[in-house]
Amino acid sequence: MSTAPRLAPWGTVTPDHVLAAAKVGTPVYLYDEAQIVQHCRNILGMPNAYGLEPRFAMKANSTRAILQLVAREGLGIDASSLNEARRAHAAGIDYGRIMLTTQEVPLGQNRTDLEAMLREGLRYNVCSQRQMELVADFAAANGIAVSLRVHPGVGSGESATRNTGDKYSCFGIHLSILPDVLALAKTKGVTIDGVHVHIGSGGDPEAWRANIDRELSFVETYFPEATRVSFGGGFKVARMPGEKAADIVALGNYAKQRFEEFYQRTGRKLIMEVEPGTYVVANCGYLVTEVIDRKQTGADGFDFIVANGGMEVNTRPLLYGSCHPFYVVSAEGELLSAEFDLSGLDADKDRRIVVGRCCESGDSQSLDEEGHILERVMAEPKVGDYVVIGGAGAYCAAMSPFNYNSQVQAPEILVRADGSLAVVRRAQNVAQIWANEVGIL
Ligand SMILES: Cc1ncc(COP(=O)(O)O)c(C=O)c1O
Repeated sequence: MSTAPRLAPWGTVTPDHVLAAAKVGTPVYLYDEAQIVQHCRNILGMPNAYGLEPRFAMKANSTRAILQLVAREGLGIDASSLNEARRAHAAGIDYGRIMLTTQEVPLGQNRTDLEAMLREGLRYNVCSQRQMELVADFAAANGIAVSLRVHPGVGSGESATRNTGDKYSCFGIHLSILPDVLALAKTKGVTIDGVHVHIGSGGDPEAWRANIDRELSFVETYFPEATRVSFGGGFKVARMPGEKAADIVALGNYAKQRFEEFYQRTGRKLIMEVEPGTYVVANCGYLVTEVIDRKQTGADGFDFIVANGGMEVNTRPLLYGSCHPFYVVSAEGELLSAEFDLSGLDADKDRRIVVGRCCESGDSQSLDEEGHILERVMAEPKVGDYVVIGGAGAYCAAMSPFNYNSQVQAPEILVRADGSLAVVRRAQNVAQIWANEVGIL
């Protein structure tokens, strides 16, 4: 086990791991197994009244080893496409542990495959009237109960683009047409045994709490056969100092109390389901980039640090204006600065801008929501030192435009619980970028 200081105040990742990972090649993602395990256990330990079934939202990080890790810990899988369901299954996870919540409308081969998956136990969370129309006969004929995603009309997210519950997003069956869809299900003989709402990602924990009450009222009003209620994912995490994370124990306790009251009122004991992605992995991942250049833009300009990884390996700052913590590690392995302890730095003078290598002025790991580059307090790295971006375990490797500027997809490394390193995704090689292209000459 390494005795070097940890990067973040939590977890096991040290500058030694950064150096060892960089030998594989930068940019490289580095994940902390012990921390992921801890987060899985925190989720499994959420207070609940009559049972809890958590699923990992694999869109946050779909790398095989990560899926295997969370499945080993006892979480099911929330898949947002048929391919995600196939991918989780290919990682060794039974369809019986996967729920599909998708915007897709499976037709042709996808429909055939969906039916085969349903026969093997996949849970289908019907998200539109058309999906219900397409699955109803099959579900009824085979006695397969489905879940139903309700659009509550109210949401909350880290940014407007992460709100999935208000009128600007179209996820789920809106309350205004719910009676029609329920009537259709009834006519066809489809059992709806689950109700699902996901209001958004990284939003206000109070909004998450309010959704518990709202959703239970939907169950009471519209779903007499439901035995399970999913509150989706979306737990807010604190990537940066000063951010306040959702208290999942407090939320669990609140839900538990509401489920008990529901039982007293209705005689129905409901199973609680949650689908966290961010919570499980966000603060368990680091993106190691190497400083390749320095540039200035004059007396009234800025001092730029050019790293060999930016928007193509973590697109969240550009997409959402999200803030990630920075760590500076010297080429020799010294932790020069850490976001959670900037006490040795001069907040006026030690201000720098980190940009990536893509041909985009927005290719920075530090932007506000309008896309302006923001200076950050950090140690001054030399060319050859490492700028490590924290909070990079969720929606980074899985959501990157990695072939932009014809860069290759970065490798991923897991710091195992015993401190050893395992390459869990090899870097793409350059020929793989154009492998499927067909020329005309
Ligand atoms: C249906 C559903 N469940 C779960 C999640 C996971 O959200 P988070 O990563 O914020 O926990 C999402 C994210 O978009 C989602 O759409």
